[in-house]
Amino acid sequence: MANTNGDSDPLFSPTLISPTVLSALPEGYTCRPLQKSDYHAGFLDVLRVLTKVGDISEEGWNERYEWMRGRNDEYFLLCVVNGEGKVVGTGALIVERKFIHNLGLVGHIEDIAVAKDQQGKKLGLRIIQALDYVAENVGCYKSILDCSEANEGFYKKCEFSRAGLQMAHYY
Ligand code: ACO
Repeated sequence: MANTNGDSDPLFSPTLISPTVLSALPEGYTCRPLQKSDYHAGFLDVLRVLTKVGDISEEGWNERYEWMRGRNDEYFLLCVVNGEGKVVGTGALIVERKFIHNLGLVGHIEDIAVAKDQQGKKLGLRIIQALDYVAENVGCYKSILDCSEANEGFYKKCEFSRAGLQMAHYY
């Protein structure tokens, strides 16, 4: 039956999902924008392989999701989903609008995670390729990210190269 409550409406336009990535995924897997129903499809559990997520209520999730959906030219969170509809990987691109570089747009790649039992199948690579495709197609002149030394090799495989130094001030 068709879902009529908007829970499967995409966070951003599915036309921004790379056809090349879709055709390169393992059989039965797909890549699509985040949708509200992913609260029940394991999205937060996948993020738990990356860091502490906390105990997010469905109400809190819905509120944050709607906030992002109102900025669907800025927040591009996507998922890789297996044949059973379970989220097995995710990544985000946040597009920053600048004055410099002739009103340039910069993509910030954030929160890349692949479920432990799905790592090593090139899903991480596909997620980065999918985010690169979004960034290029919305007009970013570059994408940047921060990562640990342990992940440098992975990002090099994704054609990123070391540039600069990260600094942080926690509040
Ligand atoms: N160091 C060196 N090479 C690596 C690493 C690593 N840590 N991880 C993967 N690779 C290589 C693979 O061997 C593969 O190489 P190949 O093409 O020669 O076979 C290539 O990178 C692609 O690997 P994938 O199979 O796509 O990697 P995977 O799906 O396992 O995803 C990821 C990698 C996202 C780092 C995953 O291990 C993960 O979720 N880790 C925990 C969370 C995390 O650290 N996320 C990144 C945080 S940084 C950020 O979010 C901006």
